[in-house]
Order: sequence, then C-alpha cells, then structure tokens
Amino acid sequence: MVLITHLLVLITFGYFASSFALPNAKVSPYIAAQLPLWEHGEADVVIYRIPLLSYTPGGRLLAVTEARKYTGGDAGPKFMAIRRSQDELGDKWEPMQYIVDDGYLLFDGLNNGNIIVDDEKGIIFIMYCICFHHDRCDIASIKLVKSVDDGVTWSKPINISEQVGTPSFAPGPGFGIQKKLDPNKGRLVSCGFGSGFGGGVQCLLSDDHGLTWRWGGNITTSASFAPGECQAAELPDGSIMLNMRNSHHAPCHCRVVARSYNGAETFPLNDVCVDKALIEPGCAGGMLYHRDVLFFTNPKSTTARVDLTLQWSYDNGTTWDGEFQIWDKASGYSTMTAHPGASPYIFILFEKGIISTTESIQFVRVSLYEEV
Ligand SMILES: *[C@@H]1O[C@H](CO)[C@@H](O)[C@H](O)[C@H]1NC(C)=O
Ligand SMILES: *[C@@H]1O[C@H](CO)[C@@H](O)[C@H](O)[C@H]1NC(C)=O
Ligand SMILES: *[C@@H]1O[C@H](CO)[C@@H](O)[C@H](O)[C@H]1NC(C)=O
Repeated sequence: MVLITHLLVLITFGYFASSFALPNAKVSPYIAAQLPLWEHGEADVVIYRIPLLSYTPGGRLLAVTEARKYTGGDAGPKFMAIRRSQDELGDKWEPMQYIVDDGYLLFDGLNNGNIIVDDEKGIIFIMYCICFHHDRCDIASIKLVKSVDDGVTWSKPINISEQVGTPSFAPGPGFGIQKKLDPNKGRLVSCGFGSGFGGGVQCLLSDDHGLTWRWGGNITTSASFAPGECQAAELPDGSIMLNMRNSHHAPCHCRVVARSYNGAETFPLNDVCVDKALIEPGCAGGMLYHRDVLFFTNPKSTTARVDLTLQWSYDNGTTWDGEFQIWDKASGYSTMTAHPGASPYIFILFEKGIISTTESIQFVRVSLYEEV
C-alpha cells in the first residue's frame, strides 16, 4: 500500500520525471498547463491589469493584480486583488481576495508593484504606490503590505514614504529580489520608475528584512533616453541585472539593460546599454534567471502589444539562443517566477486577449524540457 501511494505521487507530479534533465540541458519549452486567473466582467470592477507573480516561501504561487473600479486608466481607485495557488504547480487556485482597498473617491489610487520574498525570514512583501500620477491628489506615497503566513493573511498598509519621502515611485511591475549571494547577501532590492533624482529608474534597498528602506542606485532620464518599468535579476557573480522599458524608443524599439556590482547601490553608466535583440512596442516585460538560464518575456513586436514570446539566453543576455511563442494575439504586461532550486518549470502571468490585452490575466506553466 505504501509503495502504491508513493508511485501515485510520483506519477501525479510528473515533476520528478523531468527534473532528471541535466542542469545544463538545452531549453526546449512547451506549455504544460494554463488558465485565466482573472477575466474581464467576472466581478464588479471595470478591468484587471498589471499582473505580479511570485513563488512563496511555503512552495505555493502568489498572483497579484490591480482591480480597477471605475475606469481602465492607470489613475483612479482600485483594489489590490490576489490569488494564491493550492499546490506547487498552480493547477488549483484559491478564490480571489482583495487585500487593499484605496477607497471610492475619484482620485489616483494604488498602482502595482513588486512582490518581494524574504526567504531568510519567510516574509512576503508587496510594495506599491498611491497617487503616482498626482491626479486629484497632492502627495504620492510608497506603501507595503506583508504576510508572515505564506500569503494567507496580510498586514495593514505600511507607509514607507515616512522613511524615504514622497516622490512618485512605481515599483516594478514584477518582483523585487533578495540577494542570495555576496555582496550584500540578504538585502532586499525593489527597483521601479519614478520622478525622484531627476526621474528614471531608482531602487529601494533594505538590509534589515524590510523594516527600514533607503534609496540605492538610479538610472536617470535624459532628453532622448527614458528608462521605465523594470525587472531585476541576480546573476551568478552576485551582480544585479535590470531590464527596462525604453520609453522614448531611443535609439530603437528595444529594451534597456543595466548592471550593478554593489547590490544596487549604483548602476555605472558604462554598463547601461540597449539590447537590440530584445525588441518591444513600449511595454513592461518579464525577466528571470533560473537554472543558469536568463529568460525574458514581452510582446515581441516594435509596433503593437501582440505575440507574447519567451526568449532565453545561456550567456547572461549577451546572445539570445531561442524563443517560444506563448500567445499570438493581444498580449500586454508579463512577469515570470520559478520555485527556488532546479525546478523544470517556470510560470508566466500576462495580460491576454483576442482583441484587447485587458480581457484576462492568464497563468501559464511552461515546462522547460521535452518530456522524457
Ligand atoms: C505617507 O507618509 C508621507 C510622509 O510622512 C505623508 O506625506 C503621506 O501623506 C502618507 N501617505 C498616506 C497615504 O498616509
Ligand atoms: C544617480 O546615479 C549616478 C550614477 O550611479 C550617481 O552618480 C548619482 O549620484 C545618483 N544620483 C542620486 C541623486 O543618487
Ligand atoms: C554569466 O555571468 C557570470 C557572472 O555572473 C559568469 O560567471 C559567466 O561566465 C557568464 N556566462 C557566460 C556564458 O557569459
């Protein structure tokens, strides 16, 4: 009986079979499962936008989105909506929960945001902003909610503008990181774009597990150059790579990349460049370093938000070795996560539609290797 149960577990997981793929096996992805986590028209809000996704310390997945109450625009009141998976692979999900309500006044409400997992303490943070656009409100604020029980319950919002001031700062959208390697092992890093320090991309840092925050490095906007929404990843030498939306499309409709060698204290200008291979229409993208491979997702087009594509690189983004189309129609913001370790899966959450990118927020489980 014991043996049979074990066999069943092995078969149901499928996980173990493919995790025998060699660590340096060539990526050969396929969609193992997918489902919408939010769909237009299913609740009493206008649309869902700006997906965030992370693994949790307890081995689940956490998805977050903006539930926009009255209009589809970026400003306006919202709920922060979350769903938490009931299993490791995201086949089953708990119902939606609203964890922040910014009220019903017609003012500039919350915007996502970064999920930041502190693996050392088992805490999940979601950093977001209020009144980013100063639309019928005067003071922008940067806020956090946190969960110490794997995302089941959440704290009241904590206003970290009391520590770092009130510039407009929109974290991510995507995830912040905890440094796993030196320098600055254990540091929490949450980068985003905003108006501080001349405008552009900035990073907030915490060296005490999210209790106190301060400003780290920045990449400043100039007349022709405007780095925007961004995603960070730690590389195997402990450096941090930032991949950014190139808001003025200069010199091309392609992504901006920067590197920090001191835990996001600075981003030397010599290491800021564009990656002409990663084209974009002007949109947030996803980046993830997993199993020695750098992954990137975005709508792979210079003109329209269509064709959500996964690309991968075996040399830290110097060259891109392969691509796999996730969806061939309307595709907007996207983000990725994976469970720590050598899991053969990555998970994508993105804005998906037939006509419009705001029709649904779709979850996709990608298996990285052919079935053996
Ligand atoms: C957050 O703190 C800042 C600085 O103290 C303050 O100006 C702002 O009004 C606070 N925001 C909220 C929403 O309470
Ligand atoms: C912004 O970053 C540059 C380059 O790392 C640095 O020289 C500058 O001091 C930073 N500015 C602020 C206001 O932090
Ligand atoms: C990728 O970067 C790491 C340092 O982060 C380096 O050790 C490794 O050699 C690089 N790999 C390639 C193929 O460039």
